[in-house]
Amino acid sequence: MNSDEMRVIFQEYAQRAFDIRRLSSPSITKEDTADNYSERLQGNFRKIGELAAVNRRMLDELLYPLLESDDELDKAVAEDLNELSEMLLNIASVNDDFENLDLPIASLITGRLLADAERKNDINERIKRMDAEMVTCYSMMNMTDRISTQPAFSKVYFDKGMALGEEFMRMLDKDTFLGITDPEMREMVLVNARFTACFFDSCKADDEMNRLNLEMLDKTMEVADDEFYHEAVPDFDWNYHRFRCLEYYLQSVEVNNAKCFSIDQLEKIEKRSHEMEELLKSNPEYFKEIPSYQVCPLYYARAHFLAGNTDKEEYRKVLTDMYEARDDHDFGFAGTAFNVLIPLELMCLVDKENMSSCDMHMLRGLYQDLVAYLFRAPNTGTLSFVLEYYSQIIDRFIDVPSGIDFEDFVMQCIAAIHPPTYVHSHMEGQISECLCYHLLRTEPERFIGFPGCETIDDVLAKKDEILHYTYHATLCHDFGKIKIIDTIFVYGRKLLDLEFNIIRAHPVMGAELLAAHQGTRTFADVARGHHRWHNDKGGYPEDFKTVESPYKIILDLALCADCMDAATDVVGRSYNKGKTLQNYIDELKEGAGTRYAAWLPALLERKEVFEDVQYLLTRGREDNYRDTYRLLRGVQEKVI
Ligand SMILES: [Fe+2]
Ligand SMILES: [Fe+2]
Repeated sequence: MNSDEMRVIFQEYAQRAFDIRRLSSPSITKEDTADNYSERLQGNFRKIGELAAVNRRMLDELLYPLLESDDELDKAVAEDLNELSEMLLNIASVNDDFENLDLPIASLITGRLLADAERKNDINERIKRMDAEMVTCYSMMNMTDRISTQPAFSKVYFDKGMALGEEFMRMLDKDTFLGITDPEMREMVLVNARFTACFFDSCKADDEMNRLNLEMLDKTMEVADDEFYHEAVPDFDWNYHRFRCLEYYLQSVEVNNAKCFSIDQLEKIEKRSHEMEELLKSNPEYFKEIPSYQVCPLYYARAHFLAGNTDKEEYRKVLTDMYEARDDHDFGFAGTAFNVLIPLELMCLVDKENMSSCDMHMLRGLYQDLVAYLFRAPNTGTLSFVLEYYSQIIDRFIDVPSGIDFEDFVMQCIAAIHPPTYVHSHMEGQISECLCYHLLRTEPERFIGFPGCETIDDVLAKKDEILHYTYHATLCHDFGKIKIIDTIFVYGRKLLDLEFNIIRAHPVMGAELLAAHQGTRTFADVARGHHRWHNDKGGYPEDFKTVESPYKIILDLALCADCMDAATDVVGRSYNKGKTLQNYIDELKEGAGTRYAAWLPALLERKEVFEDVQYLLTRGREDNYRDTYRLLRGVQEKVI
């Protein structure tokens, strides 16, 4: 195959990947009705199935063999691959921001190209490949950084990015720098040396790392002030360069990690905020065009507060004033900063143990706004970007009496970000509740061991409580997915090992989230164990023993409901043909006693149970899609 043919194949691949992304998350239009929304989703998933099959063939037959081979790549092939990685990284979305179409594959490509360049003695090619690898490493680091239970995932990309960043820093050595003759490559070195600061995003709560970050930033500022470099790269946009360097200083510290900085460091950062103010005044027309220009007053106020020059109330007032003046239909960089970063900052200022009624009032308002903003955000937009901020909001969520509670908040976020997961959660809750109801009716003794149930009489007395628990705990079973929805998003390809491992982290992440809040604390075991086999000999996480949980019986139901919904769904998730309930029961029989509880098939084969479950899987699922549609549509109508 020649390079021209390969280029066309890659372009078609990217186009199909783009179509898959759009089809799996269609926007709601005014003409839609609840019924045709669900039909449209079904049609879309059929189409995705066809597109995905073609793309999978391309990966298996062309791309993976190329990436796995040790041969030196032909120059034209390397360029085609590079172009493919760029296509997979940058897809212009509605706001002209960028979303990643398939970051993990782009990252495999940039890694392979860099390895190839390392064997050649061509400095220009090496710089170009290092530049591309820095970008994918950074995005991969951010994506995996949300997997709080597996810090090693993100560390790999941090280490790689830092090593490259240090190499770029070394290239700033004057002799080495002059040895690079291509002006475009010199610019790339300057930009990437500066960009190294971004890698510290993942370790902001580490004193030593913060020290190192500031040290590297000082070095880049020295370069920015040094005439030597100005002469060496006269066409470089030095104003922008200086702006970004100063911005990195101001972003390095937040209320949340301020204790990891010394007062000297905080004062230095504040000095940088004055430099930034001066810089912007020197050429306001120019700087106004930079998206983060509008956010600068927030940075200044924070720097003054953290250096001890304004008090908390004053800082809070600045934030509140800025928040009230925000544009809540702006989903670009500044819009996100005002609509999401300010609430994050305000949340950090609240003393959880000592909340005033003013704090509570503020938090209630913020949570409502945050949900509404997320619902309005274009679902074709920058998913990873949004998730990065919203997972921080969820991590720092503060329970407020009589406000939106944690369970509702996360459910609404799921609905806004990924409607199929929202429907799946409801299906899980409803199927589990239905099975629980029938089991309580027919074999109440199975619930002995549930907290507070030592005898059958206890079980019968607590029937309503057990049902209530079952519904809510199973509804929340996939909360951990809120952090990884961009990973499980339909790429229409087989998952990579890393992605499998990320997905395997969601039960524990969900359990940790649930355990942190009063209203959901007791649901943690159900999230933790819902992918673990009944006999504890399979599934994940491997170190969890379901048999030791007082909620073992609910876990048996949750696992069954989860697999049943996934197996039979034809609307929202799977692009394989869904199985019938009877097919699923046959599968259940094969795994009875090992994967599933031995008594499950008999329960499901009772006529009344079969009929109830069958109803949930057909009419019930459609209703859930209709409800989701109404929710999305209702919120849109209220706020647009
Ligand atoms: Fe799950
Ligand atoms: Fe699930």
